[in-house]
Parts: sequence; C-alpha cells; structure tokens
Amino acid sequence: MAKPRLLLTHSLFEPAIALLAPHFEMDVWRESFGIPREELFRRIADKDALICLLSDKVNEELLGHAPKLRIAATVSVGYDNLDVPACTRHGVAATNTPGVLDDTTADFAWTLLMAVARRLIEGETWIRSGQWPGWDLAQLCGTDIWGKTLGIWGFGRIGREVARRSLGFKMRVIYHSNRRAPEDVERELHAEYVERDRLIAESDFLSLHVPLTADTRHMISAEVLRRMKRTAFLINTTRGPVVDEAALAAALAAGEIAGAGLDVFEREPIVNPALIPLKNVVLAPHMGSASLETRTKMAVMAAGNCVALFQGERPPNVLNPEAVKI
Ligand code: DGY
Repeated sequence: MAKPRLLLTHSLFEPAIALLAPHFEMDVWRESFGIPREELFRRIADKDALICLLSDKVNEELLGHAPKLRIAATVSVGYDNLDVPACTRHGVAATNTPGVLDDTTADFAWTLLMAVARRLIEGETWIRSGQWPGWDLAQLCGTDIWGKTLGIWGFGRIGREVARRSLGFKMRVIYHSNRRAPEDVERELHAEYVERDRLIAESDFLSLHVPLTADTRHMISAEVLRRMKRTAFLINTTRGPVVDEAALAAALAAGEIAGAGLDVFEREPIVNPALIPLKNVVLAPHMGSASLETRTKMAVMAAGNCVALFQGERPPNVLNPEAVKI
C-alpha cells in the first residue's frame, strides 16, 4: 500500500526523520528561511500530513489548498500559527510540542534577565571593540538580581520553571495568571498570587509567559509600562505581539523602565529600528528553546504526532481532538 505523503516545511533532526521514514513518503523543503507561500500551496495539494514551523501559517487559505490533509503538526509549543478552529472545520488534527521545552526556555528567560541586569552585552562589546581601558570602580555597574522581586505574568509550565530558578537568588516571587496555581505549587515555588496591578507595580523583573491570544495582544502597553517601576526590567520570551514594541522602545529611551531582554518581536524577523541603538535592551533572535537537545525533542514530538495519527491513534499532543476520527 502507498505510504501517506508528508510535507516538511523544514528539514528536521535525524532522530525525527528516522521515526518518520518507515511511515511516510516525505517531501522536504530544504532551503532555509521558510517555504514561499505559493510553493507551500502547490506542494500541500497532494499531502496527507504537514510538519511546519511557527513561521508557517496554517489558516483557511492554506487549508483550502490541502484537500487530503489530516494533520498539521507545528514544531513549537506556541501555536498561534495554527488556526485551530479552521483545522477542525477541515477535519485536520492540529498538534504542538508542549512540555519538552519548558526548562530550556526558562533558562533562556534567565539568560536575558541576567545579561540585561548585569550589562553583559555592553561589556562584551567593549572588549571586542578593543577600547576597554581596564578595571574601574564605577564601570558598567548594573543592578543586583538577588533579593529583588521577580514578577511572572502567566504561570503555566514555563512561568513556573522561571520561578523555580529564582530560589537560589533569594528573590521574592509574585505572579499573575488567569488561573491561580494550586497551593502546593505556590508553596514549593515560594510564589505569591497577586492581581495584575500589583504585579505591574511591584516587579523588579517582569517576565512574560502568556500565550499570544486576542486578549494578550499588546498586553504590555504604554500605560502598563508607565505603571512599572523606573528601575524595573521587562523580559519577553513568549510572543512579540504581547508587547507594544513601539511603546516599549519609547519607554526604554525615556528611562520609564530600566531595561528589557527580548527574545521575540512583533513582526519577526523585523525588529523595531528604535530598539537597535538602545543599550538597555538585550535582543535575541527567538532562540529560547534553541538547545540541540530540546529542539531535537520538539522535532521528534511533532513526528510522533504524525506517526500516531496514521497508525490509527490519537496524536498525543492534539489540540482539537474533535477533528480526529479514529
Ligand atoms: C515555541 O515553541 O513556541 C517557541 O516560540 C519556539 O521554540
């Protein structure tokens, strides 16, 4: 019997390919920086399965070109690239890769936090420029991290791992989330639930861990930035549009907040040009989950979702179980 046809919009790590190979006839887009939309429409026409990245939008338009498609598996935990209701209407299972990147992304939120608070990139740039004159007392004095208040907005898996990492820094941890965490979790992580206004006003470091939805788009607005401490830092490793990037650049330039660490941007790969000259922001190219171990696990997980469906099982990470007929 002919194998089902799978389109991969990016080549995957070897363990994922090895998992897929016995089950699928694969069509892999091997060029970097994303498959052009028209090419995607052309190639998806005869495919039964799709493995895509968060830069590939699986929406009504794409699904209209994919009459045979049964699964769209994104290699990411965030799935704002998938129009899940549209997938359901077309009988397409939508899947993501939750769980395997929590620690790695939390590590990176801390990487940004420490880099911006302790002015690491400024120091490194100085050394590389050959201009560093040697040690001086007031040189590159940043801000202490230990003993400060860490605010976490969104207390799901990643937010909780960010909290866990603060324990060694003797910090006070406050969080805000749609749903309050169970008491034992709060106790274990020494985390106190607070209302939104207190989170904004009391955090020395405010780390964002909400998914991008209609409600969270531009959640960090000019007004929110004005209500933060002038000494506070904003850390964003979730999705760029959660922050009004122009308002953030203005707040950073005006010293309304002390600094920011950003891994994500409103219109990737475009970064608001007003951020570029600012020394009080550390910019990273959406690399929060980018360890070889974790990205491999994500790829294997996406592959596993596809294999499960074509073996007559419910994909373990299906977002719309109602679309799966098994
Ligand atoms: C995700 O998985 O949603 C990240 O943004 C990419 O790792």
